[in-house]
Amino acid sequence: MGKRRVKATICNEAGEVELAVLEGTMGPEALDIQQLYPDHGLLAFDPGFRSTASCKSAITFIDGEAGVLLYRGYPIEELAEKSNFIEVAHLLMLGELPSESEYEDFWGSIRRHSLLHEQVLRFYDGFRRDAHPMAIMVGVVGALSAFYHDAMDMFDGEHRLQAAIRLVAKMPTIAAASYTYSIGRPIRYPRNDLDYAPNFLQMLFGVPSEEYEVNPTLARAMDLILLLHADHEQNASTSTVRMAASSGANPFACIAAGIASLWGPAHGGANEAVLRMLMEIGKIEKISEVIARAKDKDDPFRLMGFGHRVYRNFDPRSRVLQKMAKEVLDHLGIDDPLLEVAVKLEEIAVHDEYFIERKLYPNVDFYSGILLRAMGLPMTMFTAIFALARTVGWVSHWLELQGDSHGIDRPRQLYVGKTLRHYPGKGKKQQR
Ligand code: CMC
Repeated sequence: MGKRRVKATICNEAGEVELAVLEGTMGPEALDIQQLYPDHGLLAFDPGFRSTASCKSAITFIDGEAGVLLYRGYPIEELAEKSNFIEVAHLLMLGELPSESEYEDFWGSIRRHSLLHEQVLRFYDGFRRDAHPMAIMVGVVGALSAFYHDAMDMFDGEHRLQAAIRLVAKMPTIAAASYTYSIGRPIRYPRNDLDYAPNFLQMLFGVPSEEYEVNPTLARAMDLILLLHADHEQNASTSTVRMAASSGANPFACIAAGIASLWGPAHGGANEAVLRMLMEIGKIEKISEVIARAKDKDDPFRLMGFGHRVYRNFDPRSRVLQKMAKEVLDHLGIDDPLLEVAVKLEEIAVHDEYFIERKLYPNVDFYSGILLRAMGLPMTMFTAIFALARTVGWVSHWLELQGDSHGIDRPRQLYVGKTLRHYPGKGKKQQR
């Protein structure tokens, strides 16, 4: 890394400066500007981080032009076909696919930590019945830091892994409880005889008065949804987690910060927004009206589930999800007119000059809403499920960050406020 150097001409007294070019194993090279301010008094300006690599990472790679997504080097399509969420969690968190015995150990320790402290369950009573599950999750996950703070030595690798495992293990219990609480059903305990996705389904849909039978197609679909959403390099929520963690903050508090960031409609909240949009469109005849609104510069409306900061060709996750959505709808015998609207909307948009020019294609959220709705989930749970899946990515980045010595993240700014001025008159203190 860093063998090549380029000369950059800077038009001020700094003159010509030499900057090292850093090479990763794949993807674009990066100019090392770390000494730009200390040596030359200049800041780099990149709001939105369009041209900024905020860290080095070995977890996930995206080639947005080619529509490639790799978890630790493995293509997402291969993992979707051959792996499962827990194996992928091992891969992302610990770097490699597990052997049989490693898998059993890893899954065993996740299973063992799926219960919530009974006192945590009492937090739920403090929320309004109609609270959004994401609001509950931000609160409950943050509150876990009160339970595991003193018992944690951040400098001990075992303790760190334990915290990461606890988060992955408890998140389905927290997410399912956020839902059942909001509809007035008793909160279900986890069942350790079930795999991760089936257990989540039984906590979501089971009732104490009946035996819950897991539908294997739905369990497979849920596992796939979790796997596809598990990580996505330095997106807003992951960067939020990394930044919160850079100060040495408690991991449960850092993940709560990630959940808050994910909630926004430009990020994880888009799956809910896509469904609302499709429901509003309702029928194929109304699609052209919506396309016209999305293209109108005076209208803030955007086609939800379209466009991505990194993917400029297609989002490989949306293709896998589209196939799974059709499979689940067929299996359940659901004829959802919204799927028809979605397919038509995609067809029209991808052939429209506006979307082609701007390289706007369906992203992961475009089909996930239809799939989750077919599985019986309410819209408000869509982003909560995204958060559950992404917890694996967040903790992987949190674990990776612990080995990174760059210290606290502290961006600078281009100050555009008032220049120095003085307080007028005698001031409040002297008047009294
Ligand atoms: N509909 C209509 N126009 C759009 C859209 C859209 N969905 N997305 C971008 N554009 C236009 C935008 O108006 C701009 O046009 P112009 O150059 O004429 O000003 C151009 O495309 C570039 O947009 P941008 O805002 O600079 O792009 P970005 O990389 O900052 O934004 C995005 C990426 C995902 C926030 C944006 O595409 C968007 O808001 N999409 C809808 C929300 C969505 O589906 N979000 C989920 C993202 S994937 C899951 C996740 O990461 O959480």
